[in-house]
Amino acid sequence: MSEHFSTLSQRFLRRRTLLKTAGLAGAGALLPRLARAGTPLVGFAALPNALSDTHAVAAGYTARVLIRWGDGLDGSDAPRFPLDARQQETRFGCNNDFIAYTPLEGSRRGLLGVNHEYPVGHLMYPGFNSEKKARAGATAAQAALEMAAVGHSVLEIARRGDSWQPVADSAYARRIDANTPMGLSGPAAGHARMQTPDDPQGTRVRGTLGCCSGGKTPWGTVLIAEENVGDYFTGASDNLLACDDPQDVYRGWARAQTRFDLAAQPNELNRFGWVVEYDPVDPASAPVKHTALGRFEHEGATVVYREGAPLVVYSGDDSENQFVYRYVSEGVYEPDRGARNSELLRRGTLYCARFADDGSGRWLPLVHGSGPLHEKNGFASQADVVIDARRAAALLGATPMDRPEGIAVSPRSARACIALTKNKDKAGANGANPRRRNAAGHILEITAPGGAAAARHWEDTFTWDLLLQAGDPDGPGEGRGVYGGAVPAGAWLANPDNLVFDPRGRLWIATDGMQDFGAADGLWCAPATGGSRALPHRFLRCPRGAELCGPEFTPDGQTLFVAIQHPAKEAGSHFDRPSTRWPDFDEHLPPRSAVLAITRDGGGLIGD
Ligand code: FEO
Ligand code: CA
Ligand code: CA
Repeated sequence: MSEHFSTLSQRFLRRRTLLKTAGLAGAGALLPRLARAGTPLVGFAALPNALSDTHAVAAGYTARVLIRWGDGLDGSDAPRFPLDARQQETRFGCNNDFIAYTPLEGSRRGLLGVNHEYPVGHLMYPGFNSEKKARAGATAAQAALEMAAVGHSVLEIARRGDSWQPVADSAYARRIDANTPMGLSGPAAGHARMQTPDDPQGTRVRGTLGCCSGGKTPWGTVLIAEENVGDYFTGASDNLLACDDPQDVYRGWARAQTRFDLAAQPNELNRFGWVVEYDPVDPASAPVKHTALGRFEHEGATVVYREGAPLVVYSGDDSENQFVYRYVSEGVYEPDRGARNSELLRRGTLYCARFADDGSGRWLPLVHGSGPLHEKNGFASQADVVIDARRAAALLGATPMDRPEGIAVSPRSARACIALTKNKDKAGANGANPRRRNAAGHILEITAPGGAAAARHWEDTFTWDLLLQAGDPDGPGEGRGVYGGAVPAGAWLANPDNLVFDPRGRLWIATDGMQDFGAADGLWCAPATGGSRALPHRFLRCPRGAELCGPEFTPDGQTLFVAIQHPAKEAGSHFDRPSTRWPDFDEHLPPRSAVLAITRDGGGLIGD
């Protein structure tokens, strides 16, 4: 970063901060006026900060455990732990992340699709007192258990009174794991770099990995985003998604299946790092990896649609100094075409974002043959462009970001919010990532042209602004949190991850990483509009060691599902001596990731 640029960016940040402070002065005093105007505010008392063995939810709400790692998909109890791979294959996986609710009967019965992001061996079976040791030392049988514990679960659930339960003998119940056969579509399908000894045609992949967040399409399918896929593979490789620290971080899966040894099968890793689509109401259908959406560490895949307009999918690459992407379909969305709209994910253009310091921005197309994306730079076809999307985006001049996580698009406006979780390994700051060392993260708002009701997310320009800079508002220097007013003492957040808007337009922010600040992760809610929209209120606290994932509302806004991921994942905590045994607190049971169903006591909209 040049001195000139850095000075510019500092001046720019000062100007923006001044503008914000001026606009937000007395935000508290504005609240009653906004309330009278009908703006959806936050109707619960924010929880204070605390770190505890168990979870807590705002007064007036009840959070019930719906399903836990190892349970049957009908909710039946797990057998004795540790599980073996055969037992795990049909049971709810570990480390639940993204949640997609698909209505079968409105907001009373539906399917819950849940991602299982990654295994935590030292909390899944005995014998290892740290994650690093379990990664390095897992046996072939333990690796097979891990392969069965990741991926995705589909379970049918129904509401009875205030309580949700899994449905027994559901025809929809399904597990997808690291061995499930799936197809490939788009420019990389069948390409030589996708071919392996198992799949000489390069069109059929075994399994999905790093299932982090995701998305839902208007034709009823679910998108799974493959994020951290590199650390399952051993062996030296210059693959862009290979684990950067193979000596001590990669997992021992190559001991169970040679396809995870890059020295033996260098192309296998090219088959991961995509967006996967599957149909929750057709358990016999094979998922498909859509290569037109590019290969990187996809945090999620947020779909924006309107009848007669191109389909747009936003996705961040959750890695330090990587980029924000957007996909625009070639055809337009037509509701009458139903599931055939899936074609929209097979043909279209991938773009990366460049954020200018004046608050404008541009989407740059990743198209073979245009600009620097030609043979001399290693791009012989569009397949090379999508397989090496990171390298293509860097050549085009995309803006390096502070780890792009969740992206949510407001149902009431043209804005999309982007969570930047943190970045401790920066070469320098830029306007959209203004901190030189960003330990607490921030949230950007980008606005598409066209205004609230007619936002054109497929156009090539946007404007952007900082919504908030996370962290302690009383913190030191550039790490000081900046919100839309005064957050209650100890109620600030850090490390935003998943974002979702509720049916009333309020933004819900989940966090991952606050143990670095001696605090619990959790879920916050910010008002829908006005200056106070950057003022988050803590709604839920995770048990110690856990992050909060997958917030998902039923269509009526009266149930909120959340995924509590990796409870007890803290230094010194392991299967035999975990720091908490949430949610069962039974000495015969390990800590278990679980989905909670949250309702308001006496009924009503969550958050009002
Ligand atoms: Fe899997 Fe970026 O969190
Ligand atoms: Ca995440
Ligand atoms: Ca995360």
